[in-house]
Amino acid sequence: MFVLAAAGSAVGLGNVWKFPYMAGDSGGGAFVLLYFVCIALLGLPVMISEVLLGRRGRSSPANTMRTLAREEGQSPLWGMLGVMGMLTGLLILSYYSVIAGWTLAYVLEAAEGSFSGISAQGVGEIFNRLVADPWRLMFWHTLFMVLTMFVILRGVRRGLEAAVRFLMPGLFLLILVMVVYAVIAGDFLGGLRFLFTPDFSKITPDVVLKAMGQAFFTLSLGMGAIMMYGAYLPEDASIASTSVQVALTDTLIAILAGLAIFPIVFANGLEAGQGPGLIFTTLPLAFGHMPGGTLFGLLFFILLVFAAWTSAISMIEPAVAWMVEKFSFTRFRSSLVCGLIVWAIGAGTVLSFNLWTRVRLLDGTAFEGKSFFDLLDYLTSNIMLPLGGILICLFAAWVMSEPSRRDELRIGHPAGYVLWRFLARYIAPLGVVLIFLHVLGIV
Ligand code: PHE
Repeated sequence: MFVLAAAGSAVGLGNVWKFPYMAGDSGGGAFVLLYFVCIALLGLPVMISEVLLGRRGRSSPANTMRTLAREEGQSPLWGMLGVMGMLTGLLILSYYSVIAGWTLAYVLEAAEGSFSGISAQGVGEIFNRLVADPWRLMFWHTLFMVLTMFVILRGVRRGLEAAVRFLMPGLFLLILVMVVYAVIAGDFLGGLRFLFTPDFSKITPDVVLKAMGQAFFTLSLGMGAIMMYGAYLPEDASIASTSVQVALTDTLIAILAGLAIFPIVFANGLEAGQGPGLIFTTLPLAFGHMPGGTLFGLLFFILLVFAAWTSAISMIEPAVAWMVEKFSFTRFRSSLVCGLIVWAIGAGTVLSFNLWTRVRLLDGTAFEGKSFFDLLDYLTSNIMLPLGGILICLFAAWVMSEPSRRDELRIGHPAGYVLWRFLARYIAPLGVVLIFLHVLGIV
């Protein structure tokens, strides 16, 4: 259950939508290399720490942190870490749901056969027409939120397992089909070169920050989603090896998505750095020209909706569970409150693709030219998740007593334990702090 739930949370739009467009925006290879380094040196130790705390606390993240702090004789202020995580989750879901809404809209486009025989220009038009219409975006965003809240209302466990067990492998297979198509019909070598030949001149402090943010985002780290699911992990399961498994699967899917997309981008003279619309303006081209493309396209977008759905559930569950515990709300009331807040904030993201393309209040600051969506994404992925991640590592590797964490982790090999502790104590927190300071121009 844990592996399925964690994989369901980790694999989502982050892999298929965000990774390719971030890599495209940041110049390819150098970003991908940094992203790998961040997954290995920061993501993995944080993930192990987060599961460790979750399994020991067995409650919502805010409660888990408070209980564990009490157990270790520490300040109850650690509970704030769970509260910050909840907020982060709600903020992320507010824009994630809008993008998942685009995916829903594309299910309909695919079903209507809009992609068959389409040109690069036609694909761009479909996308632009969608994002220019706030009402349409709002409709799909609302539908996605309703779907998410439906599962949350019924309690997370039912249904989730089946969704992940059958639909994930389906998505994986379809991405493989797309990669094969990219080999046959796209500029595959161009795609490979773009993703795997690092051009070190493209590395700026901002690219480093984005690679780090993406590593946290794609693994669902730093906000309690994984902590929440850690509570489901049986005592005898190995935290370290399941975490490695989840991280590897997640990374593999992101890379395959990149390999499916960039060859199409280059073969059709599209813009790699066009931003969040990237997969929506490239994949339909492939579906429009491959044999059986209408069916593949339809299945692909349906499966992507499911992947987004299982991620969305994990973003909001910590907040819903916390409200139930804290205010003795019924699950219904708590879901309704959280869902409505997220839905309303989502309207800001909807507007940032049409009426509010940038936040003018911020002109003259470092954020000039950013939209509401850009700002939310920047704040949550690049700042809040890594910050949550460091605190989780600090708690697990410093604050918790040595016997508790050794007992909970039970890494078979003593060297494995020492390696995790070293990464979680020093490398991950210092790495994140250094990256922050670098962006601020201090180091
Ligand atoms: N990891 C998810 C994805 O890649 C997004 C996510 C972020 C989920 C944070 C939960 C928490 O789509």
